[in-house]
Amino acid sequence: MTDALPPLGLYVHWPYCARICPYCDFNVALDRRAGEAEALFEAILRDLAGLAGAAGPHRLVSIFLGGGTPSLMRPAWAAAIIQAAKVLWPLAPNLEVALEANPTDAEAARFEAFAEAGVNRLSLGVQALDDGALKFLGRNHSAEEAVRAARLAANIFPRLSLDLIYARPGQTEAGWAEELKAAVALGPEHLSPYQLTIEPGTAFDRAIRRGAFAPADPDLAARLYETTQAVLEAEGFEAYEVSNHARGEAARSRHNLIYWRGQDYLGAGPGAHGRLTRAGVRSATEAARAIPDYLARVLETGTGLSLAEALTAEEAAEERLLMGLRTVEGVPLTELLPLPLSKLADLQRDGFVRVADGRLFATTQGRPVLDRVIQELVCS
Ligand SMILES: C[S@@+](CC[C@H](N)C(=O)[O-])C[C@H]1O[C@@H](n2cnc3c(N)ncnc32)[C@H](O)[C@@H]1O
Ligand code: SF4
Repeated sequence: MTDALPPLGLYVHWPYCARICPYCDFNVALDRRAGEAEALFEAILRDLAGLAGAAGPHRLVSIFLGGGTPSLMRPAWAAAIIQAAKVLWPLAPNLEVALEANPTDAEAARFEAFAEAGVNRLSLGVQALDDGALKFLGRNHSAEEAVRAARLAANIFPRLSLDLIYARPGQTEAGWAEELKAAVALGPEHLSPYQLTIEPGTAFDRAIRRGAFAPADPDLAARLYETTQAVLEAEGFEAYEVSNHARGEAARSRHNLIYWRGQDYLGAGPGAHGRLTRAGVRSATEAARAIPDYLARVLETGTGLSLAEALTAEEAAEERLLMGLRTVEGVPLTELLPLPLSKLADLQRDGFVRVADGRLFATTQGRPVLDRVIQELVCS
């Protein structure tokens, strides 16, 4: 029996952090205003009901509590948000409920409560397993604390993913390979090693401008990417996306697959994005970004949405290309018809992309230079 209901992901943004890391440009805030977090929790619950009404029938495949630091949220609030979503939508079997956590002892102490709240996948922001690197990254935990939190999480949650950041100043290929192996030894079945990106307007951006440190040389960064692929492949992880590695298909992030497959998702919480397809037209949605604006918006209109913009067929196809080429699944060519793809034959000949069974894939050679490949594909 095929399911007539389209799949849906739900992203819930919890913006608060204990400290703002110098590399981070997510929509984050320190929890400074008395009562604001509780008001935000209540607004998110209301937003969910409003979004469910606006989105039309879907089957819920995944809930992702991201941030910010949702592991700082009261577990009872996470439980209420998860429960509300479970009531609002029919559920897919094996609903994935993921939560992002920072590996401090204080947060690890609440892991059991989050599991009881319904979280079945933890994404732990270990970032590095070296105290010097953690200090450089401005993290509020030690490597030992991260190891403790990861071991505990591996025992509590059915699925565990670890985030790491590489291409840090002074990093060597040998040191990074050891760090990756140490991360694997903690028992995750999913790893997301991200190359350090210097985002405009962050403390790292300002530090580089005043010469406090230099970003990793692009050749070294490329070699560290190769090291990542080689070490994790040897450890039994498949690079099913540019920065995401899973031990077996079941360990892949169902939530991220929704983004990469161009399926529908809703965003609740300040600044959360969504994509909805109605009557063949795909729309981009965005919630008000500042917390007070978001709260006001939910009170006034019943959802936090500040923008809902229909994408042209070209824009939707370009987004599909951008997301789909990142994964081993590729993109069906039928979904790319609105694009010129005039350089497709050249890129195929040069080994950056390949076509098989009516789908377009980036090759191993194309993946590290995906931005350029996509640019070539979309320009006429
Ligand atoms: C929403 S963030 C973090 C969640 C959680 N608060 C934490 O810090 O662990 C998700 C992930 O993005 C990655 N990330 C954030 N900013 C980055 C940057 N500038 N460069 C590379 N990775 C970054 C980090 O690995 C982080 O764990
Ligand atoms: S990296 Fe995580 S803890 Fe640090 S500021 Fe960003 S969201 Fe907050």
